Amino acid sequence: MNDISLRRVGLTALHVPELGFGAASLGNLYRPVSDAQTRTTLNAALQMGLRYIDTAPHYGRGLSERRVGDAVRLVPGVTISTKVGRLMQPDRTVSDDRERDGFRSPMPFRVHYDYSHDGILRSHEDSLQRLGLSHVDILYVHDIGSFNHGAKAAHYWEQLTAGGGLKALERLRDEGLITAFGLGVNEIAVCQDAMREAHLDVILLAGRYTLLEQEALDSLLPSCAAAGTSVVVGGPYNSGILATGTRTGSQALYDYQPAPAAVIERVRRIEAVADRYDVTLAAAALQFVLAHPQIASVIPGLESAARVEQTVNLYREVIARDFWAELRHQGLLRSDAPIP
Ligand SMILES: NC(=O)c1ccc[n+]([C@@H]2O[C@H](COP(=O)([O-])OP(=O)(O)OC[C@H]3O[C@@H](n4cnc5c(N)ncnc54)[C@H](OP(=O)(O)O)[C@@H]3O)[C@@H](O)[C@H]2O)c1
Repeated sequence: MNDISLRRVGLTALHVPELGFGAASLGNLYRPVSDAQTRTTLNAALQMGLRYIDTAPHYGRGLSERRVGDAVRLVPGVTISTKVGRLMQPDRTVSDDRERDGFRSPMPFRVHYDYSHDGILRSHEDSLQRLGLSHVDILYVHDIGSFNHGAKAAHYWEQLTAGGGLKALERLRDEGLITAFGLGVNEIAVCQDAMREAHLDVILLAGRYTLLEQEALDSLLPSCAAAGTSVVVGGPYNSGILATGTRTGSQALYDYQPAPAAVIERVRRIEAVADRYDVTLAAAALQFVLAHPQIASVIPGLESAARVEQTVNLYREVIARDFWAELRHQGLLRSDAPIP
């Protein structure tokens, strides 16, 4: 079953499966998931070849990292990425799994942002302890930029640059403690700012290169090609609507919020073309991004073993070339977007 192609990460020797696993869901994103279910899900993913797993301290304030580490500890050949920038501070007021920052996690911590040199080193060490692993392959600077930090973005940028955060990451890479680093963000501009400051091996870009949005073609993807920086596509369904479509009867999500009317209308038009060519919308969303040579992997958010199996089938679905041509013809795909 393990026939998912590998792609190289930047200019490094690391290769990852082009279909990976986004483990935000395993931190109880929006709803609690049991330890047993997360283990079954991860075991299914590993068995079916999704051997690149992306996690973060943020995902359930350490819960996703704990679960991922427990599942992969004795499994050889798994690539793990986690993130830096959020330190977990003990919080004795947390005594239930009420939703906090989107996660229904009982982990008794609060987030302290720190993108400085020492903060990044501490974040890396803390992650190894929570994962129970001696090594992670990739570190992403998580959510740096104004999309997440608004008016405080300049302060955290200062920590990352003048404050030595990027230097810490370079040191970890030079010493062989990690293989690659970059940013893990939902916005484009900050990626280009960071590429001017350091050589990024890989950028985890969530929701900004998808079947719905291709503005990354303007300058980010060309800059990445010139610099030898790979892109991992997070949020390939724009958090839901490109997987669920518009016809489920419940509110479709776009970027973690109810989808606006213009987005729903655009997805409806894509669905109409998909119907005509007998294509599953989610299959098109996954396969579209992989047509771009700069993309190393696509990592949808998956919560159950059944979803993992369904996703492998979407990845393998045979899609007629005319489908892509028709999307282009109708102005639903940019003409300069590579198609499968
Ligand atoms: N800043 C960052 O670094 C950043 C930001 C965002 C994401 N990411 C990474 O990208 C990963 C994926 O992002 P994401 O989970 O936010 O968004 P996503 O993959 O675009 O969407 C995930 C949602 O789509 C639904 N879904 C998935 N497969 C489906 C299918 N076959 N049919 C119907 N619905 C389906 C799931 O909903 P249900 O489970 O409710 O059915 C799930 O909640 C994250 O886990 C994380 O690793 C990173």
